[in-house]
Amino acid sequence: MKKLALFLALCILTACAGQKTPAQAPLYDEKALPAGAPGDMIRYGRELIVNTRAHMRGYVVANLDCAACHIAGGTKPKGGSFAGIYGQFPQWNARAHRMIALQDRLAECFLYSMNGRPPSYNSREMIALVAYIAYLSRGTPLGATPDPAVKLVKFAPPQPASAQRGAALYAQKCSACHGADGAGVAIFPPLWGPTSFNGGAGMHRLPTMAAFVRYNMPQNAPGSLTPQEAYDVSAFVLSHARPKFQGARLVGFPVRPAKYF
Ligand code: HEC
Ligand code: HEC
Repeated sequence: MKKLALFLALCILTACAGQKTPAQAPLYDEKALPAGAPGDMIRYGRELIVNTRAHMRGYVVANLDCAACHIAGGTKPKGGSFAGIYGQFPQWNARAHRMIALQDRLAECFLYSMNGRPPSYNSREMIALVAYIAYLSRGTPLGATPDPAVKLVKFAPPQPASAQRGAALYAQKCSACHGADGAGVAIFPPLWGPTSFNGGAGMHRLPTMAAFVRYNMPQNAPGSLTPQEAYDVSAFVLSHARPKFQGARLVGFPVRPAKYF
């Protein structure tokens, strides 16, 4: 018995504690990718998230890359992180009234957030995106409860949001990068107008944008806004016109089948 207790104590101090290391390793390390074609596919998936417009011009209308909202390629906690989400699909989708696959969820972001159209599910692009997200989800059990430290946890505003207060905040804290007209400046993405995400996007919901802004914006001082300020400035952003979702864009897809079969 004593020996077992000693062994367990040693285990806790040494080997078992050592087991923590993989979880603390960076979520994405270019040098640690699987060798050969599988690693190439994961790397390509990340490249599509970061430089979406450069590779997928025909699928994107908004002047946005996925990484405008999925910061650091979807590896930043509370910044649109993809960590662990592979194991949460298939899942029930209230908007579609059916179980959806990860590909369907990716298609939604093309349709709404990118105001574009999705690549076919067996295209090289879709498979690479799924491979990348699956890679970022390694180690998370199927169906695990999403980690609240990683997910964008929404919160209620202390007082009703005021777009009027938000206008003053926007001029002070956002317009230098996103433009007084919300159209974006150089590498800084648009927040409203014809080149922004459309009205069906998750970011178009006030609680979602307020949470994103609270934890990630202003980009040069994230976390500096109070919850009320995050709501007010988001209400101001969302008070402007933006593209409407056009279902007709679905026509013409699937586009380019994979050449694997
Ligand atoms: C305008 C911002 C924006 C852009 C651009 C965007 N997304 Fe999203 N995406 C969101 C938001 C907001 C959510 C929902 C997050 C939530 O509700 O917690 C989301 C959710 C997702 C999810 C599901 C995550 C989960 O936690 O279940 C995936 C996968 C995804 N996006 C992929 C993409 C891909 C791929 C692209 C590019 C083709 C993209 N997104 C572009 C804002 C965006
Ligand atoms: C220093 C420049 C800078 C400032 C200031 C700034 N942003 Fe951003 N914003 C960015 C960048 C860059 C991104 C793309 C994501 C990233 O790389 O962090 C972004 C992304 C966003 C997005 C999601 C992508 C999109 O275009 O829809 C929203 C929403 C947003 N910012 C809102 C705000 C709000 C509201 C403020 C003011 C409180 C603000 N930002 C201040 C640089 C900035």
